[in-house]
Amino acid sequence: MKNTTEIIHSTVDFVKKELVGAEGGHDWFHTYRVWKMACRIAEYEECNKLVVELAALLHDIADAKFNDGDEEAGALKAADFLSEMNVTDEVIGHVVEIIRHVSFKGGNHQQEFRSPEMDIVQDADRLDAIGAIGIARTFNYGGYKNRKIYDPEIKPDLNMTKEAYRNSTAPTINHFYEKLLLLKDRMNTRTGTVMAEHRHQFMEEFLNEFYEEWEGMK
Ligand code: ADP
Ligand code: NI
Repeated sequence: MKNTTEIIHSTVDFVKKELVGAEGGHDWFHTYRVWKMACRIAEYEECNKLVVELAALLHDIADAKFNDGDEEAGALKAADFLSEMNVTDEVIGHVVEIIRHVSFKGGNHQQEFRSPEMDIVQDADRLDAIGAIGIARTFNYGGYKNRKIYDPEIKPDLNMTKEAYRNSTAPTINHFYEKLLLLKDRMNTRTGTVMAEHRHQFMEEFLNEFYEEWEGMK
């Protein structure tokens, strides 16, 4: 019978193995940051800490983007893995719901599932999408997809669905307007909201610098 610390250890080992070779913005270190941030936010919230940790660790083990659009793959893999651990069906069910719903599905999408634990993991995941790390991840993903960094002729599409931006060939800068700059107003927790504000400002500054440099003004 495993205790909580052992369960977390086994989960870390499992996730690291699953994410070998992942794109640099969705690799083990993304999961590591989300896990640490989720633990930090959880200190200020009433929640089940085990659910938060397991969901943070397992949230991206099979991202649909890298699994032919299969939105269920990650949830199923996580459920399989957890069924071998000493956790209740209730915990497994909750973690699986979080994995199913945590991801950003376009600016107009109405979210179908919420819980305090979901709110925390989603905030931690969103924080890793913005600020300095968010900028790095976004350009890494654009490079991975062989996208332009910027093209003044191609305007952002603010009504994109998740599927649309998965298949999009738009320049990477457009992703800031289609998703990243929207996130600060979609944070769930107080702690997440405060942290997002700072990271948001940093992205705005980055974009201002970027356009000035583009025109040879700096
Ligand atoms: P979520 O974490 O909500 O599932 P994604 O996995 O789609 O969201 O996105 C995580 C990060 O991957 C984004 O914040 C961004 O850095 C990068 N990314 C995803 N889609 C794109 C895109 N179309 N262009 C540039 N970066 C992207
Ligand atoms: Ni993630």
